[in-house]
Amino acid sequence: MLNGVEAPVPADARVSLLDFVREHLGLYGSKKGCAQGACGACTMLVDGERILACLALAVQCEGREVTTIEGLANDGVPHPLQQAFIDDDGFQCGYCTPGQICSAVGMAAEVARGVPSHVTEDLAATDIELSHDELRERMSGNLCRCGAHNGIVDAIAEVYARRLR
Ligand code: FES
Ligand code: FES
Repeated sequence: MLNGVEAPVPADARVSLLDFVREHLGLYGSKKGCAQGACGACTMLVDGERILACLALAVQCEGREVTTIEGLANDGVPHPLQQAFIDDDGFQCGYCTPGQICSAVGMAAEVARGVPSHVTEDLAATDIELSHDELRERMSGNLCRCGAHNGIVDAIAEVYARRLR
């Protein structure tokens, strides 16, 4: 399933999830930055978990729910995080933005599940506060070449930091 709609499986098992979604299915929201797992521009959600789609094979997602930036809005109403990126100037050129937003949605779910990060002091904690350091560490896999990181962090904090406390 792709964004709630049945999607085909690629005939060629070597096709990456990113290329399949962009080049075969025509959804161009997810971006190809490095194609080697270094920038996060291609981030999608698979069964709610963030994944680097340039490093995943499309066939690995058979029977799973894939969500791209196109699938986050609800009946034309932007996802709260999409709106926050607009309100907080969380982008300049916008190339990294779909990946940033998908990654942040997955990141918030990780925090809610109590998944620790490199900077979490108590690894056994189940109620992790999404502090400034936690947020920056957890989003460190998503690069912004425009340097819009301050607005990006503000937007994510606005939507999730209070909600997760
Ligand atoms: S394009 Fe996938 S991490 Fe850069
Ligand atoms: S807004 Fe341009 S790369 Fe992030």
